[in-house]
Amino acid sequence: MTDGRIAKARLGADGPEVGVQGLGCMGMSFAYGPSDAAESRATLDRALELGVTLYDTAHAYGAGENERFLSPFFKAHRDEVVIATKFGLAIDPEDPTRRIIRNDEAHIRESVEGSLRRLDVDVIDLYYMHRRDVEVPIEESVGVMADLVREGKVRQLGLSEVTAAELRAAHAVHPIAALQSEWSLFSRDIEASVVPAARELGVTLVAYSPLGRGFLTGSFAKAEDLTADDFRRQQPRFTGDNATANAALLDPVRKVAEAHGATPGQIALAWVQRQAPLHGLPVVPIPGTRKPGRVEENTAATRIVLGEDDMSLLEPIAAQVAGDRYADMRFTSAGRE
Ligand SMILES: NC(=O)c1ccc[n+]([C@@H]2O[C@H](COP(=O)([O-])OP(=O)(O)OC[C@H]3O[C@@H](n4cnc5c(N)ncnc54)[C@H](OP(=O)(O)O)[C@@H]3O)[C@@H](O)[C@H]2O)c1
Repeated sequence: MTDGRIAKARLGADGPEVGVQGLGCMGMSFAYGPSDAAESRATLDRALELGVTLYDTAHAYGAGENERFLSPFFKAHRDEVVIATKFGLAIDPEDPTRRIIRNDEAHIRESVEGSLRRLDVDVIDLYYMHRRDVEVPIEESVGVMADLVREGKVRQLGLSEVTAAELRAAHAVHPIAALQSEWSLFSRDIEASVVPAARELGVTLVAYSPLGRGFLTGSFAKAEDLTADDFRRQQPRFTGDNATANAALLDPVRKVAEAHGATPGQIALAWVQRQAPLHGLPVVPIPGTRKPGRVEENTAATRIVLGEDDMSLLEPIAAQVAGDRYADMRFTSAGRE
């Protein structure tokens, strides 16, 4: 870190080294209200300067729009960035509240070609199954993903929101470099069995929504603070009495932040980073932001080391959170464990 860049971590047993914090790019095109394209581009540039190399997108983020938006940045820095995208989740064009999950061979093959075309690159560095379609055996889907590696379309494989058993079954077909799941001060369900399985198999844990979708920074306190089209308005934790109760849970985060001369968001990120030595596996949080100043703040959190006293104050938070992390928990590994 002597050059001001963040430290590194490896993806899986033989994947690339990446900055120990990645950048979630979803909000630049999807889900979190209006974005300023110039500001998002400046965020990507600043992230790269600070040593962020893992950039996270998905076909689902705006039906390909996010991949298209990121393409010029990726092409300008092809050798410096690790491009992660995902297949298998789509918003029903007839009914935007409905999600379609597909893991069959035809869909995977069509999806990879679409992502390569929109990103305008020859190969995807890390290709994730975004969600598990329980109708298709995971061995079958990962078999197709492994063929994509052999065909040179994809370098490393990842899965998102799978159970420990699904991860083991998949890893037996082809090594899985990264498991992407929600992990934060508010969402710790994966610690029961998914994290131990990832450690045992040498899979890197990519922690999504490490800022609790922004709630842990205090930047919004309830659904009504968000624009009408913001996806978070549908999330049980941010509405009504749940939001009021959950906002009160930030008090210890603020207390720890004060002690470190840090922001609550930085403490939330430092907490996720602290899970790496505690659980004995590489952990790469991918906070999402569209603002260069925030990427500076977030990457600076990689230098904060929380002590035992801090961790004891933060430990009780997750158990007290009101409301599930998704309106439909079948979208999560916990919903199938
Ligand atoms: N695999 C999956 O199913 C899945 C699901 C959700 C997300 N993801 C991925 O994970 C990434 C991160 O998750 P996320 O975006 O849902 O949640 P997050 O990283 O927990 O929070 C993002 C929110 O926090 C705000 N924020 C970021 N840094 C901040 C700071 N320093 N101060 C105040 N506010 C700050 C952002 O606003 P601004 O953008 O306005 O800065 C945004 O609204 C996504 O971009 C996506 O790539 C994957």
